[in-house]
Amino acid sequence: MSIPIKIAGIGFQVPETVITNDDLTKILDTSDEWIKTRTGIEKRHVLSGNESAVQIGIEAASKAIEKSNIDVKAIDLIIAAASVETHAYPSTACEVQAAIGAENAACFDITAACSGLIYGMGIARAFIKSESAKTVLVVATDAISRCLDWTDRASCVLFGDGAGAMVLTVSDDNQDDIIAIDLKAEGHLGNFIKMPIPGKNCPLVQPNDEEKMYVKMDGKEVYKYVVTKLPGYIEECVQKSGLKMSDIDYLVPHQANMRIIEALEKRLDFDSSHVISNIQDYANTSAASIPIAIVEAVQSGKMKLPCSAILTGFGAGMTVGTTVVRLREGIA
Ligand code: ACO
Repeated sequence: MSIPIKIAGIGFQVPETVITNDDLTKILDTSDEWIKTRTGIEKRHVLSGNESAVQIGIEAASKAIEKSNIDVKAIDLIIAAASVETHAYPSTACEVQAAIGAENAACFDITAACSGLIYGMGIARAFIKSESAKTVLVVATDAISRCLDWTDRASCVLFGDGAGAMVLTVSDDNQDDIIAIDLKAEGHLGNFIKMPIPGKNCPLVQPNDEEKMYVKMDGKEVYKYVVTKLPGYIEECVQKSGLKMSDIDYLVPHQANMRIIEALEKRLDFDSSHVISNIQDYANTSAASIPIAIVEAVQSGKMKLPCSAILTGFGAGMTVGTTVVRLREGIA
């Protein structure tokens, strides 16, 4: 018999410092009006001083663990979806493990950019179903503001920092909360969003130029790809779940651009009051955007639990992850 999975708790944390669109006009030739009408974004949170992606990841993880009511020592795997890590190693997952005291957990990081939370859920599910783990913590956190070219107005206005976390465990009532999940990648489209890591050859081989680590994005191509491909991928996953689109209560898309979210809403014929979005306050927080959107929507009363929902993420790779889930009362 297939082991049923419970989504036991979700948490998030953002840094305190807020930068508005108007603030950005001090360093860029841009305007609040341009950013708002093209993206829906009004402000974003960014790390400052000694704050780090690991630190906000730990806070998000602690909140998810508290909601899930599990003993931290019961966590036997931590997966961090962290594309912009504090260190290449130790992994973000190891750093979170040490801070929360999850001493029985194996730890590793994955790179799936903004699809990272859903990729993490897919891996967690496979570990639990194969009895390789019973309780898995997925932490999605990035310090993307530290890897933006703050002179490139076409990319830097789009992002913000944040962390989200989810605890998945064996269900105690036979209900499987992950009804269907589907992970996709189109590596041939890798040039759409890239963050090169400047490595240096040995100086005896060739002299090196100083290069910085920046996000480089072809926003137009990303936009076209997502609005063309994502609706079909979502329909495929819903079909796999055995449900009808009209049976599903909420759509929680990755928060990359309000126009993309509206295009999805229209194409999938979803009532806008059931499409969860908070991009105006956080911008694109990469893999953290879906858990941040869920917790905020539950806390504000926009999302009523228990419910069913489609969670869908897309990002560099290109990667896409979609899942149809049940979200229980008390998880956020
Ligand atoms: N302020 C003012 N003007 C700007 C800005 C800005 N911040 N950015 C670009 N412009 C200008 C451009 O220079 C251009 O000027 P020009 O006509 O004189 O050449 C004009 O605005 C139009 O630019 P476009 O690139 O055509 O603008 P577009 O309507 O395509 O919007 C945007 C750009 C917002 C980036 C859009 O393409 C988009 O959101 N794409 C999706 C990006 C995305 O989802 N990324 C996240 C992926 S997830 C991950 O893994 C990281």
